[in-house]
Amino acid sequence: MRAMVYRGPGRIRIEEKDIPRIEHPNDAIVQVTCAAICGSDLHLYHGMMPDLRVGHTFGHEFVGTVHEVGSSVEHLTVGDRVLVPFNICCGSCFFCARGLYSNCHNVNPNASAVGGIYGYSHTCGGYDGGQAEFVRVPFADVGPSKIPEWMDEEDAVLLTDACPTGYFGAQLGEIREGDVVAVFGAGPVGLFAAKSAWLMGAGRVIVVDHIDYRLEFARRFAHAETVNFTQVNDIVQWMKETTDFLGADVCIEAVGAEADGAFFQHVTSAKFKLQGGSPVALNWCIDAVRKGGNVAVVGAFGPMFSAVKFGDAMNKGLTIRTNQCPVKRQWPRLFEHVKNGVLKPSEIVTHRIPLDEIAEGYHLMSNKLDGCIKPLVIPTHVH
Ligand SMILES: NC(=O)c1ccc[n+]([C@@H]2O[C@H](COP(=O)([O-])OP(=O)(O)OC[C@H]3O[C@@H](n4cnc5c(N)ncnc54)[C@H](O)[C@@H]3O)[C@@H](O)[C@H]2O)c1
Ligand SMILES: [Zn+2]
Ligand SMILES: [Zn+2]
Repeated sequence: MRAMVYRGPGRIRIEEKDIPRIEHPNDAIVQVTCAAICGSDLHLYHGMMPDLRVGHTFGHEFVGTVHEVGSSVEHLTVGDRVLVPFNICCGSCFFCARGLYSNCHNVNPNASAVGGIYGYSHTCGGYDGGQAEFVRVPFADVGPSKIPEWMDEEDAVLLTDACPTGYFGAQLGEIREGDVVAVFGAGPVGLFAAKSAWLMGAGRVIVVDHIDYRLEFARRFAHAETVNFTQVNDIVQWMKETTDFLGADVCIEAVGAEADGAFFQHVTSAKFKLQGGSPVALNWCIDAVRKGGNVAVVGAFGPMFSAVKFGDAMNKGLTIRTNQCPVKRQWPRLFEHVKNGVLKPSEIVTHRIPLDEIAEGYHLMSNKLDGCIKPLVIPTHVH
């Protein structure tokens, strides 16, 4: 089969790999019909994540057709169309029992902090991902869901990560009616967080980024106010001024490890890997939220130390909540929202790239070229 493989920072290519096989009775093999490139993949692509090995296939957002099932699989049959959450989860451990699917205890022997994620390095379990023609799906009775007849494939692929994660960011913010919600980052995750904030009763939604076409998109797609942090003197001061000098009630961090906006932080993390990620946007959230406010962090960071302004968070009495999104938990609600037309996730898709040209997709997404917000990846056999 054709599969994307990692060769080193900034270097990926398509190679021929063996079609994955059933390794456990509850595995399924899924033939991918549509995948996506996530902002998280860029952290891999830029060499930010530990224990990322040459030859690894990325891709944690994918949908497809069940090609083969193991002997104990009960809920799926060959030919079913499925969407697969980016978290691999067992469904029965202490954490899964509490809906903490992203923190499953049984799927990643390599690390105790993070669960299993498709195509996300050996730190996250070493599972090959879905930017390929086929992918092995462990615990096939637990994670995947059949794609309902009324659901478009492109909406389905966005329900495997970007949309649920943005929604989750807004949930973690514990928004109350009338709240001023500031979302840092106008990528797919931030855009869905901004849109979801309205569903949870926000009174104002403000999106912060430095890429104008993305801010323009945020105004149109999420009906948000926007601010380009390079166009104002000090984004924290700006946020205070627009909120009667109190600060936003809720700040959502949807930027993660490679945040721009402070040279020293960016260089020490993205270039020299001295931190688990640049906390620029996270520190802006801590500074721009009001005392007693909530900070929700869905941007991804590496395991190491980051220079987070924890003293300020403590003295301001902030509530900081964070996690990888437990995608499966979001589905019942989000399926309803998509079915009723409240959300149309595929509106953010800007590019549809053949798998064989995936390197171009990474180039566009990484450098934010050609108005790129969300590139989909279409395997060759689909054409
Ligand atoms: N928690 C989860 O489950 C989960 C799931 C998916 C993605 N993520 C993470 O969420 C983050 C966003 O993902 P995405 O797909 O939207 O990525 P993306 O790269 O498309 O978007 C990030 C945006 O942040 C902007 N940005 C950079 N520095 C900024 C700053 N200081 N302030 C405000 N904006 C800034 C960039 O210009 C870009 O538009 C990534 O870190 C990704 O790894 C987490
Ligand atoms: Zn992702
Ligand atoms: Zn589990």
